[in-house]
Amino acid sequence: AIDIRTLRGVSKVITLDSGYKNTGSCESAITFLDGEKGILRYRGYSIEELAEKADFLEVAYLLIFGELPTSEQLAKFHHDIMENSMVDEDVHKILDAFPKNAHPMGVLSSLTSGLIAFNPSSVNVDSEEEMYRAIVKILGQFPVLVAWVMRKKKGLPLNYGSKKLSYVDNLMQMMFQQPNEDFELNEIVRDALDKLLILHADHEQNCSTSTVRITGSSHAGLFVSIAAGISALWGPLHGGANQAVLEMLEAIKEDGGDTKKYMAKAKDKSDPFRLMGFGHRVYKNFDPRARIIKKAADEVLADLGVEDPILDIAKGLEKEALEDQYFVDRKLYPNVDFYSGIIYRAMGIPVEMFTVMFAMGRLPGWIAQWREMRLNKEPIGRPRQLYVGATERSFKPIDQR
Ligand code: ACO
Repeated sequence: AIDIRTLRGVSKVITLDSGYKNTGSCESAITFLDGEKGILRYRGYSIEELAEKADFLEVAYLLIFGELPTSEQLAKFHHDIMENSMVDEDVHKILDAFPKNAHPMGVLSSLTSGLIAFNPSSVNVDSEEEMYRAIVKILGQFPVLVAWVMRKKKGLPLNYGSKKLSYVDNLMQMMFQQPNEDFELNEIVRDALDKLLILHADHEQNCSTSTVRITGSSHAGLFVSIAAGISALWGPLHGGANQAVLEMLEAIKEDGGDTKKYMAKAKDKSDPFRLMGFGHRVYKNFDPRARIIKKAADEVLADLGVEDPILDIAKGLEKEALEDQYFVDRKLYPNVDFYSGIIYRAMGIPVEMFTVMFAMGRLPGWIAQWREMRLNKEPIGRPRQLYVGATERSFKPIDQR
């Protein structure tokens, strides 16, 4: 419910809508979402069709520029991105200075922000040409940071990409190529990763995207706006849920696999525990992305011959929740992140990297939303508040307090 009140002592009416549950912050032509019907479309194309037929770079182009690219447009986009993928050698030194056990999301956010020091011309971008140059730079350098952050976590030497490879193949080579070995690409794994990235690519005005738009609305540059989005994504109520889901499933397994015990814990109002990967602010019937991911998880695990007991626990929890009155009444269904961690784990990605993979997928959406905000010449984002603190009082010297 929206609370409309008059600001104390000020002749202005303010709407108070905690968590912005009913407040639109902008007009947008990028992503359409109907939470009741479980519909998600990027620029009018259904997520099911895009996940099936498009690749991640095509979807990135679609989100950012509004139309599916022709083969020439896509080739130029790929070329421009790869030509801008060189990360300054000094960024290594910054990466080296982080402790090995630093959380990859903190490192990624810092390095993304730090990129601006090495690309100063990307700060003030007003024209479409300047925006394009900043966009291809961040799309080129971000996968390098993602791969480096993971390799540092795994204690592997840093790896460089190849301009000849497709965007996602290049990301995989940078992440997974072993020292002194040729890289062999598993196409089923690559297709699953491509799908995961597409499914995460945009989701209208969620917490991290709103953060990117509001940061960019002060005309702070693209890179730091993205860095702010990464920080917002990190929390377990948002992108951090994919790590939290896997940790929860592991804990249930270690505890003997008793899913009913954890269902009861989630329903107990005196216990802060929530079933991670369940519920969504907007989807109130099902999350269309979760359906696609569940199928992809089955395919990848079958192809890799992985028998993961955690998948059975996940399926058990989902079944129980769908039949449980508490979850039914509150319309709590598995969200996009309930199954994504299971796929990432099968690919050999460490659990603390899961939210970094989410950020990799969300990058085009953040860019598209930032660009739209700048092209629409939106004013600086500046919400008001209802002040509920003390009325005017006199200052007391410290010895009289
Ligand atoms: N487990 C148990 N109870 C839950 C859960 C859950 N996962 N999610 C919501 N509830 C309950 C709440 O306790 C509340 O109950 P009440 O009405 O009796 O007080 C009711 O459902 C509504 O919950 P809210 O927190 O008000 O719903 P909101 O829309 O604000 O939050 C959110 C949505 C943050 C996603 C929430 O469902 C949650 O915390 N889920 C777990 C974390 C998670 O999976 N996050 C990923 C979201 S998807 C993404 O960011 C990509």
